[in-house]
Amino acid sequence: MARGGALIRRLQLRRTGVIISRQQIANMNTTYYGHSCFSVEVAGKRLLFDPFITPNPLAAAIDIKQLKADFILVSHGHVDHVADAVEIAKRTDALVVANFEVASWLNKMGAPRIQPMNHGGAVNLDFGRVKFVSAIHSSTMPDGSSGGNPGGFVIESRDGNFYYSGDTALTLDMKLIGESTKLKFAALCVGDNFTMGPDDAVKAADFVGCDQVLGCHFDTFPPIKIDHAAAKEKFQAAGKTLHLLRPGEAADF
Ligand code: NI
Ligand code: MN
Repeated sequence: MARGGALIRRLQLRRTGVIISRQQIANMNTTYYGHSCFSVEVAGKRLLFDPFITPNPLAAAIDIKQLKADFILVSHGHVDHVADAVEIAKRTDALVVANFEVASWLNKMGAPRIQPMNHGGAVNLDFGRVKFVSAIHSSTMPDGSSGGNPGGFVIESRDGNFYYSGDTALTLDMKLIGESTKLKFAALCVGDNFTMGPDDAVKAADFVGCDQVLGCHFDTFPPIKIDHAAAKEKFQAAGKTLHLLRPGEAADF
């Protein structure tokens, strides 16, 4: 809708002879910080997902004091998704977007600004639109209090759209995402044991109608160590690309 509006505006301006600089559709610059933590630049804003860096030995080279964040999106309450959220939120004054229980808990712990959501709800923010969607998993906060129900996020923006699954099983609900949103990429859990493994993640990519997949939730702990070459081959056989980045590595989508 926003893009259609911009196009109509452009055409109107062209008709009146006014020369305007065309709004560029930028690549979505994405940096992986280990486990399920990554950031995406969307319409000039930095979105940081599921910050779990300081407790992750694989991400020892990442300094959370250097991380930029305008928004911190948290999929559920488990410590491997929230560990650094409060500290980064305090320093950056980023808006924390999460389900009601997770957002309220992070606020109580010191995150200054929150956007509590619940499943099926969407909100328009500076960079575009965020929808909180279903995930099949659990969601207890690090201190044992309720983290509500886990979810994922669909992000829509002028630079393109993407989906982050959070921790989840494969679910038919993912087809609903593919039906309503054309995705540039999907960040999917692939580590098995606690979430989808590579086989189900290939089906998930199919359900959401996306060929470019950023792998998440793999290698951090022994039960989720995966064979990279084998996982990539499964995606390739389905005509898709699985990106398994090293912590600190970036990709453009
Ligand atoms: Ni989890
Ligand atoms: Mn997890």
